[in-house]
Amino acid sequence: MAQSYFEVDPDVRSARTPPSQLYGDPAWHTRILDAVWARAWHYLQGVVLEGDTSSSPNVIPLDVCGEPLILTRGADGAERLLSNVCTHRGATLHDAPCTVRHLRCPYHGRRFHLDGAVAAAPGFDHLEGFPGERDALPSAHLARLGPLRFGSLKAQPEAEAWLGPVWERLPWVPWDELRPQPAGERHHRIAVNWALYVENYLEGLHIPYVHPGLARVLDGPAYRTELLEHGTLQVGVASPGAPCMHPPAGAKDHGTAIGGYYVWLFPGTMINLYPWGVSMNQVEPVGPTDSIVHYRTWVFDPQAPPPDVDTVELQDQQVVARVQAGVRARLYQGGSYSPTEEVGVHHFHRLLAAAL
Ligand code: FES
Ligand SMILES: [Fe+2]
Repeated sequence: MAQSYFEVDPDVRSARTPPSQLYGDPAWHTRILDAVWARAWHYLQGVVLEGDTSSSPNVIPLDVCGEPLILTRGADGAERLLSNVCTHRGATLHDAPCTVRHLRCPYHGRRFHLDGAVAAAPGFDHLEGFPGERDALPSAHLARLGPLRFGSLKAQPEAEAWLGPVWERLPWVPWDELRPQPAGERHHRIAVNWALYVENYLEGLHIPYVHPGLARVLDGPAYRTELLEHGTLQVGVASPGAPCMHPPAGAKDHGTAIGGYYVWLFPGTMINLYPWGVSMNQVEPVGPTDSIVHYRTWVFDPQAPPPDVDTVELQDQQVVARVQAGVRARLYQGGSYSPTEEVGVHHFHRLLAAAL
């Protein structure tokens, strides 16, 4: 296979952006799916367990990066993310959310407890050592931020290292008070490589040119990026009079009016905190130049008028499409990074290069 890795100079002032193969070469794409996405944390699409938990299903089948998984909530309230594949001959178990006491295989009737242990297995009464550990449904990893749930097959990095810095940096945010706002849900299919979408998210340098409306409510010179171990935090300081949050005493940004916090977690999770609530863009690769952006919102006050979630998103998608059109040009040789405005983009490329 052709070379599918690259290096990025640790010094942002001398570093150059990655080779153009990253943004569309099929062999690179396959390698990145394996080395990055199969190990990554993914937002669990379709999980709605919040609110009155007694009336919502306790078993939800999910597709996580092509892997059939199932989220279960036991009688004790404990949630688990398990394989949705029977440990007998490999049939998938459940196809739709439901409320059940046991998971049941439709093929030969094997049943599993909600923690994955075998409960009953017709035809296996006389097999010595059965059921053993290998007969239980394997677990995947589950992480939570308020109502947002994430799953990973490998948990590399572990949940505490991946999501923990968000708790630590923004401990005063009442994450558990967030309520889903279905009217804010969007699923955009975009004809660009996923990494271009992430890169655009990671810098504020484009804001005055691409988002004139946003530029009016943010204090441009005060905009800054902090690096996290597996992500970044961008701090958008509000312009005078613009809607803002006031971090409480003891918080790092106490005394500053914050218009928005923008958290990116490697590789494709973007969580935006605003005075009205949270939006999340989760980008997933579909092909070398094809991605889906799942966009969702949660609000602190379900009675408040719904926020505009489209303007900035569509402006970003349009400009990213221009980059996809140009980045693989023969005469384009990559660029340098702004040492003040693009440290987040540089950090992303460093993490990606390390993962490959
Ligand atoms: S495949 Fe599930 S019981 Fe046989
Ligand atoms: Fe943008």
